[in-house]
Amino acid sequence: MHNHLALAATALLAGTATAQNMLRFACGQLVVERTDPIVNPGQRYTPHLHQIVGGNSFNISMEDGHDPVSKSTCTSCSFVQDLSNYWTASMFFHGKNGSYKRVPQQGNGGPQGALVHLNGGMDIYYIPSGKMTAFRPGFRMIAGDAAETSETKVNKVSICHRCWDRPDENTFVGGAPCSGSDTVGIPKETKCQKIRQTIVFPTCWDGKNLDSPDHKSHVAYGTSRSAGGGGSCSDAKFPVKLPQIMYEVMWDTSSFVKDTANWPTAHAPYVYSMNQGGSAAHGDYVFGWKDDSLQKAMDKNCNLNKACPAAGLTTQTPEQYSACTKKQQAPEPVDGWIAAMPVGSPLRLA
Ligand SMILES: *[C@@H]1O[C@H](CO)[C@@H](O)[C@H](O)[C@H]1NC(C)=O
Ligand SMILES: *[C@@H]1O[C@H](CO)[C@@H](O)[C@H](O)[C@H]1NC(C)=O
Repeated sequence: MHNHLALAATALLAGTATAQNMLRFACGQLVVERTDPIVNPGQRYTPHLHQIVGGNSFNISMEDGHDPVSKSTCTSCSFVQDLSNYWTASMFFHGKNGSYKRVPQQGNGGPQGALVHLNGGMDIYYIPSGKMTAFRPGFRMIAGDAAETSETKVNKVSICHRCWDRPDENTFVGGAPCSGSDTVGIPKETKCQKIRQTIVFPTCWDGKNLDSPDHKSHVAYGTSRSAGGGGSCSDAKFPVKLPQIMYEVMWDTSSFVKDTANWPTAHAPYVYSMNQGGSAAHGDYVFGWKDDSLQKAMDKNCNLNKACPAAGLTTQTPEQYSACTKKQQAPEPVDGWIAAMPVGSPLRLA
């Protein structure tokens, strides 16, 4: 068994007596819809579709002063105290016959314990290294670029995909995220029963701005971009060390690779909802941990998805967090076989 992330954190802290723990937990699907309160605030039917998890105060507009903690009545994430929102693009299978189907998501099994998703969603990690300062209320940021078309312009150490050729998500091997044969592009092989997408966020903050016009320039990557905590913040413009956030989406492609009659040969089998490949993978984050619970979780070395009384962290069952969902605010079909991806102008209902 490869306890790959713990190994990464241990390697980073080589020479110290104990490895730091990390938070690793499941978030069920809150909603799948074309909204994006960071990039297109106030807009319904934004240019592309997102899959969103976290606090149910997620809205088409979450301007300055929107407080997910006081406005949410539930969270689709495992920790009760985490009302943050996390979102990524959706992935579609594009069949030979031209139809599209949204690729379902599941949790990571893995040696650190199965993360249970009853209705899709993603896995969230907060990976520490050294002394960190938690995000402040109102903080938001984006990793990756939804318009990037060149795979060579993407740093594979923090944004990548892994082909998972076993049917069982618990039999995963292959080293730290975004290492080895992981790729920026979305794998196309029929042997991939799952495709794991990893998005690692920057870990150094300017200490002043909760956001910036491009939602990126108030933060920077540290001395390491990989999923081991981010290293240190050596650039004096970004002195504040943040917990390292990592998104992990387990796309379950098993049903598509089985349907050999509809496997495409003239176009790519999988595409993100921007109608682009893996180079455009991106993640959006709005901080929303209650009070100083995230700071305490880091300080008290809370681990995985376990309750952590020292930091006041309590957990919900998969049935509970999966029950926290929202109605689409930009209603349109996103499930089953559809003739066109919901992209650009609203999909016409037949
Ligand atoms: C979403 O925002 C609208 C105003 O734009 C507000 O009326 C509504 O209550 C908000 N919903 C939630 C769940 O915060
Ligand atoms: C495309 O193929 C899938 C099965 O692989 C089928 O369910 C769907 O209806 C087909 N679409 C069209 C337009 O034939």
